Amino acid sequence: MGPPGSGKGTRAKIIGKMYDIPVITTGDMLREAFARGTEHGKVADAYMRKGELVPDEIVIAIVEERLRQPDIESGFILDGFPRSVRQAVALDRILKGQSKTIDTVLNVVAKPETIINRLSLRRSCPRCGAVYHLKDMPPKEDGVCDECGGPLIQREDDKEEIIRHRFDVYERRTFPILELYESSGKIKEISGDLEIDEIPKALEEILGKPDP
Ligand code: AP5
Repeated sequence: MGPPGSGKGTRAKIIGKMYDIPVITTGDMLREAFARGTEHGKVADAYMRKGELVPDEIVIAIVEERLRQPDIESGFILDGFPRSVRQAVALDRILKGQSKTIDTVLNVVAKPETIINRLSLRRSCPRCGAVYHLKDMPPKEDGVCDECGGPLIQREDDKEEIIRHRFDVYERRTFPILELYESSGKIKEISGDLEIDEIPKALEEILGKPDP
């Protein structure tokens, strides 16, 4: 959990590598669906451009399908889901059906100035999903993805007006989920202001040491 640009995706990728578990990022899955030209992808793109949440039924269907894959058996991390109370209720239902539970709800807390700096300087690779920061995590070659050689772009929804709207949507639709999880005692906070190389240690303190 965390507002736009707090560093959820960056932390999720680090967790995936450290604990060797799949990272399920709804934002990336929706962008991929659009790139493949699927009906869900086309509908999702219209909402994403405006900084609105994609309709629950589309996102829930995509996540439900993903959680049927066998690679999630020894654990997984959800990045960007759930994002509405209806999605949180659906997740609970899906996991119950598989006799699984959420271990930890990681909440990324960052200063507003950190977030604005991050989003305005973020560049991403539409081909493989790699994410860069022009100052703090630049690609080796200007405008070119280190991972796949694809061209780097600025996301449409990283324009200032849309960023402001994404914040409103977060406060209104997503923040209330934290109250739902509050009583479970599973919420753990991690700072969004940490330097990249400080993140693994902070994660270990919260999630425990990965298996050797
Ligand atoms: P999504 O792609 O999930 O965007 P978001 O939640 O707004 O989050 P961001 O990707 O902007 O930021 P982040 O917190 O992951 O930060 P990041 O690690 O990239 O969703 C986009 C849209 O899809 C939504 O608006 C909605 O329309 C739709 N959507 C997605 N899921 C949905 C759902 N469940 N239901 C309905 N609609 C849904 O970091 C940001 C930048 O900072 C990067 O450049 C990174 O390199 C840099 N950075 C991060 N950490 C550090 C650090 N420690 N030091 C230096 N730089 C850092």
